[in-house]
Amino acid sequence: MSVNKDMNLTLKIWRQKDARSKGKIETYQVSNISPDSSFLEMMDVLNEELISKGEEPVAFDHDCREGICGSCSLHINGEPHGPDRLITTCQLHMRKFKDGDTIYIEPWRAKAFPVIKDLVVDRSSFDRIQQAGGFISVNTSGNTQDANAIPIPKKNADMSMDAATCIGCGACVAACKNSSAMLFVSAKVSQFALLPQGRVEAKDRVLNMVKAMDDEGFGACTNTGACEVECPKGISLENIARMNREYLSATFG
Ligand code: SF4
Ligand code: FES
Repeated sequence: MSVNKDMNLTLKIWRQKDARSKGKIETYQVSNISPDSSFLEMMDVLNEELISKGEEPVAFDHDCREGICGSCSLHINGEPHGPDRLITTCQLHMRKFKDGDTIYIEPWRAKAFPVIKDLVVDRSSFDRIQQAGGFISVNTSGNTQDANAIPIPKKNADMSMDAATCIGCGACVAACKNSSAMLFVSAKVSQFALLPQGRVEAKDRVLNMVKAMDDEGFGACTNTGACEVECPKGISLENIARMNREYLSATFG
């Protein structure tokens, strides 16, 4: 049981009917919110109240609510995934806020992530980047290979696994003043670049994924590091340096 008292909060939320409508911030009050509840549970309470009054609930993305799927995507008080570090919005708890607080809740802001409704943005640009090269081509019919058939240095396996923890949430883009997707794309390039299985298509992968990223309208990276700070999975800037090396060697190598 919580020893902290329940909270009354003022919410300033971006409301936008659809992709073509102009949006604006609307003000709502929520009361008796437990500090032990999650941020999305607090949003559920607001939506239940809105529905009971016959009003339109606030649309927001969510699925697993366990920090795995990358669906949740709220910009809370100016920070993607809110004030905590190394967590997604669905893992954020209300104990991070105080009774009487005013909380600003907005969608990711980026040209390549257009708003669909309220707090939901279209992140299919990430899917198209993935489809441009975020895979390896293997024949999966027949017998499964032994797991240890291709020896891989432990350090490389660990770094590849770290890069593969990117959940494609887009917080890196939302955090970046240029709306750059370099951290996301570099994680997807690195997870394969570090493994022998990924080397076969390495050149085409990096060239095609970077082209897809540019075609989608993401901005350039100017090394501010905001993406790494806000990334819920701690994806390192080292991946961007690795992708730049991969790109140079694919272009001039
Ligand atoms: S790099 Fe981090 S912030 Fe960017 S999409 Fe992947 S998990 Fe999200
Ligand atoms: S809802 Fe799946 S990561 Fe937040």
